[in-house]
Amino acid sequence: MKKYKWGILTAGKMSAKFVKALRLLDKAELYAVAARDEARAKAFAGEYGFRKFYSDYESLAKDPDVDIIYIASPHSHHFDHAMLCLRNRKAVLCEKAFSLNSREAEQIIDEAHRQKTFLMEALWPPFQPMYRKTLAILKSGEPGKLLHLDARFGFQPPYDPADRKFNISLGGGSLLDIGIYPVNDVLYFMGMPDSVTAKALFTESGTEHTINIIFEYKDGRMATVHSSFRTMAGIGCTLYCEKGNLVFSRARDMSQRLGVAMNGMEAREESLIPDGMGYHFEAAEVMKCLDEGRIESVIVPHSHTLNLMKLLDIVRKSAGIVFPGRD
Ligand SMILES: NC(=O)c1ccc[n+]([C@@H]2O[C@H](COP(=O)([O-])OP(=O)(O)OC[C@H]3O[C@@H](n4cnc5c(N)ncnc54)[C@H](OP(=O)(O)O)[C@@H]3O)[C@@H](O)[C@H]2O)c1
Repeated sequence: MKKYKWGILTAGKMSAKFVKALRLLDKAELYAVAARDEARAKAFAGEYGFRKFYSDYESLAKDPDVDIIYIASPHSHHFDHAMLCLRNRKAVLCEKAFSLNSREAEQIIDEAHRQKTFLMEALWPPFQPMYRKTLAILKSGEPGKLLHLDARFGFQPPYDPADRKFNISLGGGSLLDIGIYPVNDVLYFMGMPDSVTAKALFTESGTEHTINIIFEYKDGRMATVHSSFRTMAGIGCTLYCEKGNLVFSRARDMSQRLGVAMNGMEAREESLIPDGMGYHFEAAEVMKCLDEGRIESVIVPHSHTLNLMKLLDIVRKSAGIVFPGRD
């Protein structure tokens, strides 16, 4: 069995969650971590059992023994960090939102092809068992045609203009942080819409805190999305179909639930709490693709990541959300 040496770029909150999941995989070796601050990198390495630590990201990218780098920096930095890793021919698993805009996403994907190096967005839902089951049921024809989708993601983080979620220069705002999930539901289950209308509300720091979006299709289908740092809307997606409804939801503990309610039939429900909050599925997929010599995954291919960033660009334009100098 080939083992892969993982490098973790940043010692932040998400990196810690991801590493706990990585520990579940026999093929993954926790090799090195890099943080801007040496003491924090050392502490992270000690806590999770990494062999090496670096006080700058470049050293991690240039370490000849690193096979795969997981990037969990703020959205504003994904472009530079993904380019740095790819130019050093490291396989990349990059957190969502993949970049600030689709132009940057396109350049990163081009670089992966130029370097013939693996690249994937760490987009959680498509790897989850209940999400995959939702798609399988839809494809089976049991619910009939999908007519309308309604999806939401809302929670109430404390307002802090220094936090990446409320800092425009770090790609802040609810849309790229959490709204990306319901927008992904729309793209994943319904495809690219023909028109988009969005309205946003903004904090004093200029970041959007709430956004409501309507997606329309020429064939008469519609989808609605709510994303907010002010409402406790929770996380979920309802697919209204000709013969009944499918409801996918997840709780803050990452438990995931699928309800199937077909007209005139008894409703059924399944749920599970995956190990490692479900993050090990995407890590396992990276290593499977490398075993097979591929540079992209069929579960989250480059085309999906690019279309998602294009759709987020369209939503931002409609709602007046601007990242100065990066649009
Ligand atoms: N897939 C999921 O379920 C999920 C969940 C949460 C977050 N995420 C994603 O993971 C990424 C990181 O999120 P997080 O919550 O872990 O963020 P975070 O803890 O606020 O920051 C992550 C790291 O980014 C670097 N950083 C922070 N502020 C910075 C600044 N002002 N300038 C430059 N670098 C800065 C730091 O790296 P150093 O350690 O090197 O100092 C920090 O440890 C985001 O892309 C987010 O969307 C994904």
